[in-house]
Amino acid sequence: MALFPSDFTWGVACASYQCEGGWNADGKGPNIWDDFCHRVGGSPVKNNDNGDVACDSYHRYPEDIALMKQHNIRAYRFSISWARVMPDGDGALNEAGLAYYDDLVNRLLENGIEPMVTLYHWDLPSALQYRGGWLNREIVDIFARYADVIARRFKGRVRRYMTINEPQCIALGYYTDVMAPGWRCPDEDIARLFHNIALAHSAAQRAIKAVDPGTLVGLVPCGRLCYPQEDTPENRESAYRACFDLTGRWAFNFNIILDSVVLRRYDESAPEAVRKFAATIPESDWAAMEAPDFIGVNVYNGTMVDAEGRDVDCYPGFQRTACKWAITPEVMHFGPLFLYRRYGLPLIISENGLSCNDIIFRDGQVHDPKRIDFLHRYLTELSRAIAEGAPVKGYLQWSFLDNFEWANGYDERFGIIYVDYPTLRRIPKDSARWYAQVIATNGESLKA
Ligand code: NOJ
Repeated sequence: MALFPSDFTWGVACASYQCEGGWNADGKGPNIWDDFCHRVGGSPVKNNDNGDVACDSYHRYPEDIALMKQHNIRAYRFSISWARVMPDGDGALNEAGLAYYDDLVNRLLENGIEPMVTLYHWDLPSALQYRGGWLNREIVDIFARYADVIARRFKGRVRRYMTINEPQCIALGYYTDVMAPGWRCPDEDIARLFHNIALAHSAAQRAIKAVDPGTLVGLVPCGRLCYPQEDTPENRESAYRACFDLTGRWAFNFNIILDSVVLRRYDESAPEAVRKFAATIPESDWAAMEAPDFIGVNVYNGTMVDAEGRDVDCYPGFQRTACKWAITPEVMHFGPLFLYRRYGLPLIISENGLSCNDIIFRDGQVHDPKRIDFLHRYLTELSRAIAEGAPVKGYLQWSFLDNFEWANGYDERFGIIYVDYPTLRRIPKDSARWYAQVIATNGESLKA
């Protein structure tokens, strides 16, 4: 039996601030990650790294697209730098910025690569942050206007959009210093932030569809996904319940955002602060929620739970990535199944990959067997989810190029293409050739 459907989309993903560089080129406005990294006195980012140059994809995208084509990539999920196309986030447009994305999209299409556009991957225009960022309800209409601009520009060329990447990590920037803007807000503000994001997603989805009704619009949450220590029907039930239980780290669960847009409610396990805020939400807000056409799922690791749904700690020495995330391929089996069961929507794995401390070997190549092993295991588990009925439409490896890994700077490499930062030279890793083969065989090579 085929492991993946014949129309399965195989691709790669990245985000503007992480790879573009050109931070002040051609009329781009500043965004919160520019500000965060340029903080006077030093930033919270490792080694004081920043995305000023990053992979310089702003200038080198033709080379990157050629490499994608060479490696059989069928879709590229990239994000638009909002401040590049609207320097203040609202109002005046920057034609040079739009022209950059125009050419990027056209070249992708010419090379048979589907452009998948993320509207927001964390780089809010600074001017909007001064107005309160995602805590200011005005962001809902402002985001919809931005979505309208983009939808008009790419009408007929972009068929799949993702509105907002990982609201849970946007929230992190409002209660910790590991993400921009690095504010410290109380839980009730965080609840309001999620609500504004849910409304902004919905308004943007309506705006895109008003312009181009044939497009599909997704939302990309992240968070805790659980899987059973031992796979029995009862344990699956416990893992499912644990997955959507908001007790504990509530702001890092998929359902803190998906329940709002799809089910139009909060889970009964929501904490006091959320329930208090929820009591103030008018009915008209719930009526304005739009369920996405698909859920983009970023999958890196999961939490193993026992028969009662309690977390099972990883033993010392458990297999981990360079950034110390546990390697748990099972999450790719159960995560999609659980999300489909709760929301009944198609899914796209919008990110999955391994951070490594890759090196250039004496032969001039970058050998990354760990990444190949990781991807092989996760993709095999994904095929099990599909075989059991999860409607997964595509898989986007994170990331095509090594890039700026937020607060961890350039220390961690997620790419299947190595970037030699001093020269910006690109070197395909072994995993790039391996992935090209997976794509060419629509996953059949995983059986070997
Ligand atoms: C998810 C984020 O969307 C992406 O920006 C980040 O680089 C990866 N996780 C890896 O941490």
